[in-house]
Amino acid sequence: MENIKIPSFTVLPEHIGIIMDGNGRWAKKRGLPRYKGHIEGAKTFRRIGEFAADIGIKCLTFYAFSTENWKRPQEEVDAIMQIFREYLLEAEERKAENEEKGIRLRFIGERNGLPPDLVALMEDTEAGSSGKSRILLNIAVNYGGRREITEGVKAIARRAASGEISPDDIDEAMISQSLYTKDIPDPDLIIRPSGEYRTSNFLTWQSAYSELWFTDVLWPDFTEKDLIEALLAFEKRGRRFGGV
Ligand code: IPE
Ligand code: IPE
Ligand code: MG
Repeated sequence: MENIKIPSFTVLPEHIGIIMDGNGRWAKKRGLPRYKGHIEGAKTFRRIGEFAADIGIKCLTFYAFSTENWKRPQEEVDAIMQIFREYLLEAEERKAENEEKGIRLRFIGERNGLPPDLVALMEDTEAGSSGKSRILLNIAVNYGGRREITEGVKAIARRAASGEISPDDIDEAMISQSLYTKDIPDPDLIIRPSGEYRTSNFLTWQSAYSELWFTDVLWPDFTEKDLIEALLAFEKRGRRFGGV
């Protein structure tokens, strides 16, 4: 890593969400197949996750694969799954190093529908890092905000149907508690690279009051400096949550 001057921030987000977008265009620009962009994007993920820990961020959620991404050509989907697999196997090999860095890894999203061997690796990775607390890295795989809310609401409806709760007991806190993110704060900041100005079904419920920050940089080109820029912009935002 080149020498990066880390500013002293007056306020840091407790939880940042990052939509890792632009891998395909990064590859296309270089005349490479799209999967090469995903390989490069995975490297950026690792670099940025570690840097975030170094500057004191406690929680980060990376959007890696959406419930809509299955629409892509099978070949690309398979390549993405293979990249996850390799990352997880490598994380296993780098366990000691990750432990030293205090990185806890967790996955959010539907496990159903993912290759079973991948799910097993995800579970091993979660179990193996569960004691770490310097930074929590959530990886959203087969994740969709609407799917998450739908599943959460279904679980609540079952409790109501069985008489355990009354429909009048349902409140915002109960819905929040039914989501994958129940034990972490809502994202204060969501970063989307690649020049798209949308959130694409990412943390739909949780982002009601998130600050959004966009950049044209493609995810594989995203650097520590870009993260610093986003954090400096965040620092200047006036968050009112509907108040004055
Ligand atoms: C994001 O990069 C990675 C995934 C959605 C899996 P893209 O693959 O969407 O890259 P672009 O948007 O086509 O450039
Ligand atoms: C969002 O990127 C999903 C991930 C980064 C995992 P997409 O490339 O799928 O989003 P759209 O299609 O441009 O909205
Ligand atoms: Mg995209």
